[in-house]
Amino acid sequence: MVRTDILKPMLIVGNWKSYVETPETAKVVMAAAKRAAMKSRAKIVIAPSFAHIGLFAGGKKSKVGLAAQDVSEMTAGNATGEVSATTLKRMGVSYVIVGHSERRARGETDATVSTKVTRVLANGMTPILCVGESVRDANAEYLQKLRTQIDAVIKPLPLGDRAKVIVAYEPIWAIGKSATEADSPRDVAEMMLYIRKILAQHLPEKLVPKAVILYGGSVEPANARAFAKEGGVGGFLVGHASADPKMFSDIIKEAS
Ligand code: PGA
Repeated sequence: MVRTDILKPMLIVGNWKSYVETPETAKVVMAAAKRAAMKSRAKIVIAPSFAHIGLFAGGKKSKVGLAAQDVSEMTAGNATGEVSATTLKRMGVSYVIVGHSERRARGETDATVSTKVTRVLANGMTPILCVGESVRDANAEYLQKLRTQIDAVIKPLPLGDRAKVIVAYEPIWAIGKSATEADSPRDVAEMMLYIRKILAQHLPEKLVPKAVILYGGSVEPANARAFAKEGGVGGFLVGHASADPKMFSDIIKEAS
């Protein structure tokens, strides 16, 4: 299989989760991301909390794309507390993280994730589908689990939409730790190949090498370069380190 994805600029998505709690901090962290983005070939995307998305909506054209950390599976109507895909689109959001393990841990099923991805695509945004195992069991059942998570979302989509989904591989055991506890570049490279093989069963052949697959789970400045070079990744989904201006800028530097 010819790899063309490595020639594409990396996609580095910062998922602020709930680390950034005030608008003042949000502005400072975003400004640092913009400065780092100016000096990089990588495409940088930031996912603030719903409450802070409005701070960055409708601004002048920026090198930093806007993402949401989640989306409602409902459309407009009687859905208290939900934020619809249409609302996000109108706020200038272009990527939506869907099926993050921290949402799945609160009861989100593959069926819910699948509906959410449909809503995101219907509104012309790009879904970032998070998948990942909680443990790497000796019988390699985790590989089947990954396949199930991907199949459940990609299979129901029309052919034309399938290649629009970005897959983020995030082993749950590696999330929220430090660089030394992240996955190894070599294992990540294997997982990237495995995920690409799964996608190959759903995508037209010529689109398979173009599929963007990210790695997430304790990406820090100390391991970003190794992942970029040896991990075969199309980019990163960065959690805690994206809320730290220095760390995130360094990751962008190391990865590009
Ligand atoms: P982390 O989070 O970088 O803090 O491990 C990654 C994620 O959950 O997206």
